[in-house]
Amino acid sequence: MPCKVVVGGFWGDEGKGKIISYLALRDKVHIGVRGGVGPNAGHTVQFEGKSYKLRMLPSTFVKEKSRVLIGAGVLVNPSIFLEEVELTGCRGRVGLDPNCAIIEEKHVKKDKTSPHLSKNIGTTGTGTGPCNVDRVRRIAKIAKEVPELQDFLVDVASEVNKALDEGKNVLVEGTQGTFLSLYHGTYPYCTSKDVTASSICADVGIGPRRVDDVLVVFKSYITRVGQGPLPGEIPWDEAERLGWAEVATVTGRKRRVAPFNVELAKKAVMLNSANQIAITKLDVIYPSCRGIRKYTDLPEEAKGFIKNIEVSVGVPVTLIGTGPETYDIIDLEKTKRVSAVIKT
Ligand code: IMP
Ligand code: MG
Repeated sequence: MPCKVVVGGFWGDEGKGKIISYLALRDKVHIGVRGGVGPNAGHTVQFEGKSYKLRMLPSTFVKEKSRVLIGAGVLVNPSIFLEEVELTGCRGRVGLDPNCAIIEEKHVKKDKTSPHLSKNIGTTGTGTGPCNVDRVRRIAKIAKEVPELQDFLVDVASEVNKALDEGKNVLVEGTQGTFLSLYHGTYPYCTSKDVTASSICADVGIGPRRVDDVLVVFKSYITRVGQGPLPGEIPWDEAERLGWAEVATVTGRKRRVAPFNVELAKKAVMLNSANQIAITKLDVIYPSCRGIRKYTDLPEEAKGFIKNIEVSVGVPVTLIGTGPETYDIIDLEKTKRVSAVIKT
């Protein structure tokens, strides 16, 4: 389908980077375009033996010659952006909207030194919240005012809409996760804007009628960093024993952990109007699944876990991650009627 939007279903860190890099290659995307908040995100892509931890560029960069764009709604930290352009070797195919607001040192400082943000909320300290404050006050700098970004400026909304008019494949990459949304998340323990599929589309400048598929990504267990409620949270030593213990990409903090939660998954599907689900890290909860690429090769227990999600949520699981590499995946999209509601 030409226009697919990928969003996180829990509190971020669901493994969106891996899923998006796989889809970019499978669907030979013409454009990968990033919506979402800004460099508070950390998307990990492991491809051809290399590991990339991206905070600004879309994870679709792995598709050679594809356009790598950042929508107007996204906050840009120029030094992180330029670093990633070099790291990925994408110069020449990267575009940034002139209206992207710019994160400056003062924003990072405020994020890190404000007791409310750094302690009560537990932000990533990357300056995104304070920069969005300045944007709302209409005093933030924007990309078109920054000399070192001039080579990258393109009207992202026009380029994306034109590609869709021509029937080309566009993948829209969301960041964070549904329950970090400023509107629909666990306020005040959330990020500085909405991050559900509708806002991700608005960030890049496409309207609701443009979208063909919304894929929501859930990890096989839940993690969250920072403060705020986490239903079913388990102690860190138990997470370590289970092999579910993780450390955050951007901040190096220990991630809090809980088992998969069907009620939250249902709500995330509703808020994003998702018609497909990706489940990542199945191999972390069932180690014998590691590297499996065919559904029939999965152990019964793991099939039961997937089936239970489909039946309770009513939306098909079309992708299952079984390892960190881009191609460690079971792809069921062709075998499922994506618009169908799953029945017991
Ligand atoms: P901020 O987005 O840096 O303002 O942080 C607000 C809350 O969102 C904190 O709990 C962060 O840990 C969380 N957060 C923001 N971005 C991400 C992400 O990409 N992954 C996981 N948590 C995030
Ligand atoms: Mg992350």
